[in-house]
Amino acid sequence: MARLTWHGHSCFTLVTDDDTRIMFDPFLEENPKADIGLKDVEDLDFILASHGHFDHFTDAIPLAKRTGATIVGAFELATFAQNQGVENVHPMNIGGGHAFPFGYAKMTPALHTATVAGDDEGAFTTQPAGWWLDMNGKRLYHAGDTALLTDMQLLKGKVDVALLPIGDNFTMGPDDAAIAVEFIEPRVVIPMHYGTWELIDQDPNAFKEKVAEWAEVVILDAGDSYNF
Ligand code: NI
Ligand code: MN
Repeated sequence: MARLTWHGHSCFTLVTDDDTRIMFDPFLEENPKADIGLKDVEDLDFILASHGHFDHFTDAIPLAKRTGATIVGAFELATFAQNQGVENVHPMNIGGGHAFPFGYAKMTPALHTATVAGDDEGAFTTQPAGWWLDMNGKRLYHAGDTALLTDMQLLKGKVDVALLPIGDNFTMGPDDAAIAVEFIEPRVVIPMHYGTWELIDQDPNAFKEKVAEWAEVVILDAGDSYNF
C-alpha cells in the first residue's frame, strides 16, 4: 500500500510500498495550511522538487541537510542545492526519467516560470516541471505548477492518481484543471495548490462535480492521507 499525505499547497509525503519516504515540494514553515513543521519530518529518503519558487522549494534544502534525503530536480535546482551544501542530489531534466529504487520517475513538462528561492544573486534560472512516477504499476502524476497543456494528453490512461493544481491565478484554475482531467483520464484526482491564501481560494467540491464523469475526486484536508 502506498500512502500519500497532503500537507497543504503542493506538498505531499509519499510512503511507497517498499517504505521509501518521498516528499514533493516541501512547503511547511511558511505554509499557513501545513499540518506539520520542518522539525516533525524525521525520516526522508527523497525530495522531488517541481521548481524553485519559494512555495515549493524553500524547505527542501534544510530538510535535505537534516535528513540526508536526496533532492531530485531540474539540473539547476540540484546544482544550487549542492552549492548550498546538500550532500545528495540527483539532477534531471524535462522528458527524462530515472529508475530509482522506489520506481521510475520522469520529469514532465510544466508551463510556468521559476526563480530559485534562496538564490540571492539571481544566478540560477530553472525550468518548472511535474513528476510522473511508476512504482511497480502504481502510477502517480504530480503536475507541479502549470498551465493547462495539450501535452497532458500524452498521459492518457497512464495515471492512477493525479495531483492537479486548481487554485487559478498562478496555475490552472478549476475549469482548465477539469480539461486536464478529460485529457489524462486518471482513476483518481486530488486537487492541490488552492486555499493556501485568499488569492487562490477555490471550492474543491465544485471542481469535484465538474469532473464527476471523468474521474473520482478525493478532497483531502491537510494531514489527511490517501492509500492506493
Ligand atoms: Ni510556482
Ligand atoms: Mn506555486
